[in-house]
Amino acid sequence: MLRTHTCGELRSTNIDEIVTICGWVDKSRDHGGTIFLDLRDRYGKTQVVINPDSGEAALQLAKDLRGEDVVKFVGKVAPRLEGKVNSKLATGEIEVRASEVVLLNKSKTPPFFPNQEELPSEDLRLKHRFIDLRRETMRDTLVLRSQIIKSMRDYFADNQFIDVETPILGRSTPEGARDYLVPSRVHWGQFFALPQSPQLYKQILMVAGYDRYIQVARCFRDEDLRADRQPEFTQLDMEMTFVEQNDVIGMIDGLMVKMAKEFLGIELETPLPRMTYDEAERLYGTDAPDLRFGMQIVDCSDLAAQTAFRVFRGAVDNGGFVRGIKIEKRAADFSRKRIDELTEFVKNDFGAKGLAWFRVEEDGSLWSPISKNVEPEVIAGFQEKFSTEPGDLILLLADTWEVTSKGLNGLRKSLGAELELYDPKAMHFSWVTEFPMFDKDEEEDRYVAMHHPFTAPRSQDLEGLKEDPEAARAIAYDLVINGYEAGGGTIRIHDAETQQQVFDLLALSPEMAQDRFGFLLDALQYGAPPHGGIALGIDRIVMLFGGLDNIRDCIAFPKTQRAMDLMTQAPGEVEGKQLHELHIQVETPPQKS
Ligand code: AMO
Ligand code: AMP
Repeated sequence: MLRTHTCGELRSTNIDEIVTICGWVDKSRDHGGTIFLDLRDRYGKTQVVINPDSGEAALQLAKDLRGEDVVKFVGKVAPRLEGKVNSKLATGEIEVRASEVVLLNKSKTPPFFPNQEELPSEDLRLKHRFIDLRRETMRDTLVLRSQIIKSMRDYFADNQFIDVETPILGRSTPEGARDYLVPSRVHWGQFFALPQSPQLYKQILMVAGYDRYIQVARCFRDEDLRADRQPEFTQLDMEMTFVEQNDVIGMIDGLMVKMAKEFLGIELETPLPRMTYDEAERLYGTDAPDLRFGMQIVDCSDLAAQTAFRVFRGAVDNGGFVRGIKIEKRAADFSRKRIDELTEFVKNDFGAKGLAWFRVEEDGSLWSPISKNVEPEVIAGFQEKFSTEPGDLILLLADTWEVTSKGLNGLRKSLGAELELYDPKAMHFSWVTEFPMFDKDEEEDRYVAMHHPFTAPRSQDLEGLKEDPEAARAIAYDLVINGYEAGGGTIRIHDAETQQQVFDLLALSPEMAQDRFGFLLDALQYGAPPHGGIALGIDRIVMLFGGLDNIRDCIAFPKTQRAMDLMTQAPGEVEGKQLHELHIQVETPPQKS
């Protein structure tokens, strides 16, 4: 080894030892012939002192050192001078008095420094990720990520799960996003698809009798990216045999208890709270509600049906809804200008047509620019429904169920953060259950599976599946943390007949089903046991446990919002010869005007 210790290791117990440490120059100060230098590595920082006692050559070399140079120091560990102890630093009690300085590699002046206070643009950080990853927060996050994955693996190993790897080159799987395709050289015109998840392989493993499976699985989905979505992400994927919903949920509850204790120092009570999908949509306008604070949605459609006010009445007459939220005691914080901004927010981001509001006055009466349009008994109805108190502000949307849900969820989330309605360190874990089996794809006028086509309906919904597919509820469950979907799973269909019934509803003919999923339908006929499982989004869990707000900061080499790797410049063009071997011709892109 080039070193005897890391830069995070030396303590006062090492005083008088001769040590060798290596690392990057973090900071260097020249105090009239004595140089104080912070040397940094993955483990921390150590102060090195180079002075005339170090020798003329060492002093001269040290004077020329700049940030990010890679250096080796040999020296004696000494206590820091009185008043110079740095209690914030693990090595803050000591310094190394250098007797030898070796420049291992000179650095060019980097485009930014890992210790600079203001972060450069994300593009610059991603392009020079080798510098960015030297930053303390990036290091802490990657260490946390590694520890979280280890904790998960340990938990499942302790519970008799085995880790099985599944292929990356496979057939298109059914999570419903666009596939990343890989052309086959050997098979003309044929393509592999990168897995959107190991879903079908893990079900096959259950049929094969491997009754407890896990995998830290890389998944690929070509979809629109957001702060919590990457084209390439990692799941803790698991599957179990001879289980019901409660068994899978219970297994994950146990994991969350362990992780909350290890990483957050909190004791979670189990079972974690559960809420049905319908309740979540009704009270929070989303299937992944942030339950760190209240501000539930109140449905006022019955009141709206009693008014002549065009906006409210029109909505319910058209089959829509009037729903709202209440901001408690904070009306004074909302100027007309602020309310106008909120109105623009719901219009631009959620397609709402407007935002109606009422302020509760000192005497308890409601005031609004639309007060004169709304009958006193209807206003009294609002007071009662929202249990208003002086100082409250009510915000209402009149629109379709979907727009009112999305708009109020958006308002609720942004106001919850802005008004600091919760402790930013708080963590809330819950389950959302009983998702609909199907979603209507309005554009194509057909049903799509809400989770995936292998999800079992509740037994009581099996019979009426064909007659009323929209009413059918799945044995499906999502783990929700602070308003993020951190995981999702289901109990699976384990007989070929029900599976074909679901395929029929998804307009997947027996021939098409056979072509795409024939192996699964086959397997279901050779002793498939009841089974179910779940996949946790590891990137999102690291983000939440690390108190971060985007998953790019939780991944060593993430893609940009435009699905590019700025460091390697992937994706890139390939040589004509490679394309030729793959029997691929690339169309000329349309000319930009
Ligand atoms: P699902 O599609 O719900 O289920 O994915 C499981 C979890 O993976 C995370 N996730 C993502 N994270 C980052 N970027 C993305 N693009 C992304 N997409 C999903 C989420 C999500 O909850 N095979 C099923 C699981 C099962 O049924 O067992 C599946 O993949 O946290
Ligand atoms: P208008 O007569 O269209 O100007 O609307 C009167 C008031 O109702 C304005 O304050 C609008 O912001 C509000 N409003 C209009 N459409 C809606 C809607 N769909 N939901 C809630 N409020 C609305």
